[in-house]
Amino acid sequence: MSFQIALVQFEPIRKDVARNIQIIRRLLKGIKANLVVLPELSNSGYLYRKPEELLPYAEKGDCSDPFLYVLQEISMAVGGIIVAGYAELADGKLFNAAAAVSEHGIIQNYRKIHLYADEKSLFQPGNTGFSVFDWHDVKIGMMICFDWIFPESARTLSLQGAQIIAHPANLVMPYCQDAMVTRSIENRVFTITANRIGDENLDGKKLLFTGRSQITAPHGHILYRGPENVPTVHIMDIDPQKASQKNISPQNNLISDRRPEFYDLLG
Ligand code: ACM
Repeated sequence: MSFQIALVQFEPIRKDVARNIQIIRRLLKGIKANLVVLPELSNSGYLYRKPEELLPYAEKGDCSDPFLYVLQEISMAVGGIIVAGYAELADGKLFNAAAAVSEHGIIQNYRKIHLYADEKSLFQPGNTGFSVFDWHDVKIGMMICFDWIFPESARTLSLQGAQIIAHPANLVMPYCQDAMVTRSIENRVFTITANRIGDENLDGKKLLFTGRSQITAPHGHILYRGPENVPTVHIMDIDPQKASQKNISPQNNLISDRRPEFYDLLG
């Protein structure tokens, strides 16, 4: 089975949703894909002093506000779905969210469960849980950036049958790209980490985002790793069925060999 994926790496501009929409439109012009993945907080950029400052750029998760509205429009042109990180406003609360958007609207919304550093003073911890949706018989799950450091995130999605993990990111630590190889191997899944580039400075705080957006295959091969600081769109064909074969020897299966009675994950 052939499934076209596209990964987009760019530099979201803080407080400039219109400009970010313009950049995304330009990068995706003429592109056809079944699944496109954009970085975390693609609508708003990353650094804000307090929730009130971010509020004007946050969106309801229903495609009625400009960013997701345009993504719905672009998804029609692309001929597939778009997974994008965005600042979400719901019931007066801010979430660091990712939406899977089709030409018909939102397929699924995910709210980042593991908030990183100062995100804890901007956003509420995600409350949607990890879940998987079907898109033309392909099972896709979403997680956001720092979720990578908790293997439970990718595992939870994989136990639900995810074949592809769409992973919008604003990475600042250098470890994630290498760790995603392991996430792929231990779960036999494809991962698509769409990271941002550039830096942000606020009140003496400086963050440098690491680029090197990446696609990994179920056996851990790095199918693509992008440049450190250049806007990029990378398109490739994958066969999602390759993520469904979980036998690692005639006697071993990644799922059925688990011994959850010894893991005490709720402790
Ligand atoms: C991060 O989770 N944006 C580092």
